[in-house]
Formats: sequence, C-alpha cells, structure tokens
Amino acid sequence: MNNALQHLLEANTAWASAQLERDPEFFKRLENQQSPEYFWIGCSDSRVPANTIVDLPPGEVFVHRNVANQVFHGDLNGQSATQFAVEVLQVKHIIVCGHYGCSGVRMALRGDRLGLADAWVRPIHQLARRHSLTGFPSTGDQAYQDQLCELNVIEQVKHLCESTLIEDAWLRGQDLTVHSWIYSLKDGLIRNLGLNVNAPNQIDQEYSNAVKAVKLRHQSTK
Ligand code: CO
Repeated sequence: MNNALQHLLEANTAWASAQLERDPEFFKRLENQQSPEYFWIGCSDSRVPANTIVDLPPGEVFVHRNVANQVFHGDLNGQSATQFAVEVLQVKHIIVCGHYGCSGVRMALRGDRLGLADAWVRPIHQLARRHSLTGFPSTGDQAYQDQLCELNVIEQVKHLCESTLIEDAWLRGQDLTVHSWIYSLKDGLIRNLGLNVNAPNQIDQEYSNAVKAVKLRHQSTK
C-alpha cells in the first residue's frame, strides 16, 4: 500500500475528532441536509479557498471553482452547480470572487500558449482587447493585470445575471443577489467591486457603472 498521503488522512482523523469535541452534534446535523445561504464561484487557485477566507465552517457555502472563475452559458458543470444552488438550495447570495495575481488572467493577457486552458481563458483575452489592455509596456504589466482581474469578475457577474437560470429565479420573485468580489493574495483582504445585482433590469446600468469605476481607479496606471 502506498502511504504517501498518510499525513493527510491522519490530519483528517484529528480534525474530525476535534470537531466532535467542540460540537458533538456537528456531523449528525450536516449528514442529512445542507442549507447554505451562499454560492461561491471562484478560481481553482490553491491560495483562494472559499470557506477559509470568509471563515465559514462546512455546510455554510456551496462552492464551484474553475480556472479564472469563468461563467459560460455552455459550461454544463458551472450551470449545473448554479441550478442546484439556486433552485434546490435556494441560496440568497451568489458571490463571484476573483483574485489579483490570477495565473489564468495573466496567461490570457499575455496570450500565452499552454494547451487546453488556452481556449478556457480566451474570452479574458478578448476582454483585455476590448479594454485596450493588451499592448502593455513591460513595466506596466502588473497594473494591467490587476485591472483585468477586476474586469474579469465584473464580466462573469454579467454573464451570470444574463443566464436563463438567474433571470428565471428573479422572474419567480426569488430573493437572490449576485455579488462581485476580488481577493488580494498580498494581505488576504476582499474588495467589493460594487456590482451587486438583485433584479434583471439592473444589470446593464450597474455593469457599465462598475466598469467605469474600475477604469477610474486605474486611470493613473494606464
Ligand atoms: Co486564479
């Protein structure tokens, strides 16, 4: 038997018994149902674990992560998770959380070629072109990346709000807000990017306000 991961299994055993010591009913309570209020769409990056950075225990946040926190209407995985979160779990908040220093965003900005992931992040490259961020000077690379990380979150919130799943939830009168957040690897803090939508008729105006705010904030770096 290969014991390479023995330390992880031991850590798990220790965690489970510590959890029981603090709260003897913990697992019993979560065994048969989950009722999280939050659905998190974030990046797969190991440095941005949803539960940890907002300090939530198991059972409190339903999570979907992929490279560069993308939302595609044709992505069965993301759309299925969204449907489950909205229609079955009836979450009240969907948080799209990007992060500065995102490799997927950097790759897209530079037009790097790595393989399969190229196609996945290609829409971010198009986004960079739309905002004239591709012709960066080598010294200004970082500022352009930060700006694109923010615009990427805002763009994905827009995609999500325009999906039939979310539109239908709002038409049914469901209480549901979609939020745009970005996490900083430097200090562990999350910034609200200001695009917080809870009705279908708000998205266009709120989207353009949020994009303008990003542009304004980064004006000096352009
Ligand atoms: Co990332």
